[in-house]
Amino acid sequence: EKDGFDWFMRKEIYEQPKAIGDTLLGRYDTDGALRLDELRMSEAELRRIDKIIIVACGTAFYAGLVAKYAIEHWTRIACEVELAHEFRYRDPIVNPNTLVVCISQSGETADSLMAVRHAAEQGAKVLAICNTNGSTIPRESDAVIYTHAGPEIGVASTKGFTTQLVACYLLGLYLAQVRGTLFGDEIARLMAELEEMPATLQRVLDESEPVLKLAGDFAEQPSVLFLGRHVGYPVALEGALKLKELAYIHAEGFAAGELKHGPIALVDDGLPVFVVVPPKGRDMLHDKVVSNIAEIRARGALTVVLAEEDDPEIEPLADVWIRLPKVSTLLQPVLATVPLQLFACELATRKGHDVDQPRNLAKSVTVE
Ligand code: M6R
Repeated sequence: EKDGFDWFMRKEIYEQPKAIGDTLLGRYDTDGALRLDELRMSEAELRRIDKIIIVACGTAFYAGLVAKYAIEHWTRIACEVELAHEFRYRDPIVNPNTLVVCISQSGETADSLMAVRHAAEQGAKVLAICNTNGSTIPRESDAVIYTHAGPEIGVASTKGFTTQLVACYLLGLYLAQVRGTLFGDEIARLMAELEEMPATLQRVLDESEPVLKLAGDFAEQPSVLFLGRHVGYPVALEGALKLKELAYIHAEGFAAGELKHGPIALVDDGLPVFVVVPPKGRDMLHDKVVSNIAEIRARGALTVVLAEEDDPEIEPLADVWIRLPKVSTLLQPVLATVPLQLFACELATRKGHDVDQPRNLAKSVTVE
């Protein structure tokens, strides 16, 4: 059932355009209104929310980190993101106007389930973003958005993650629609971009040869760093997690702005550093990351730069340039993550590891 692929993981990476299309299916009316039919929460309830807390583990937590940027920007509702097992064992401030969003591919992760119960006991509304119909977390939640990615077999989350991102965007835009914090044409513009995303992502997959080749070159590297800012920061964390869990290589993701506060001491001749560059926009984000690349190159780093395909500033700064199609900054993680998934999958394959069943890991962690 691997459809000719060597691993379920690789098959699932290539399924992402379709999976994202399925997450979006039926959510957007031709009359320009977003609908989340299965949500099970009324518009009045959604209007009362004054704080959002996202809880999740692992890759799903990184989806939550991306979601925070989008949700706060579009809805102006304060949004926190917390590891479920940390949230569970502290005394969080939640009340009936708090929306706790639990993101879980399997819907069975014990840490996340405990966080859901902890939130519900304190009167919060709980919404699950989940891929597995009828699993425990959505059953115990007040509301649900299913990602409809189809079964994810590989232990490493791939289409689970990108569809979680899309579901979070849908939630953010829906809240913005209900609460009137974005103009209709802005929602329509973002929805059009999301609806293009399956085709845009297909292009990223079709042009993935350089990243596969790179995996061959890097097979002996003991350590790899990943840098990003804003929504590129969780992408960096996800790139590092994939490499750890599949290739058993030491990898760390950092917020690029944090470099000079410590991590830059790690940078030495020949150290591979992946950098996620945001699209050039009205803010300073892009330029800040570009100067971070110059800083690490001056210290000998070998730079693998994920940046827009027509960005004139990248050529002299990149040992390898992974070209990404142009999209809005907030949506870029959907595209930027995929080459990192492929890189980890390919590197682990070349090292002879079992990509679908990495050592010491289980697909769903049903114990605390
Ligand atoms: O099923 P869940 O989304 O709740 O799983 C959460 C994490 O255990 C999961 O994302 C894990 O980090 C993956 N192995 C990442 O590839």
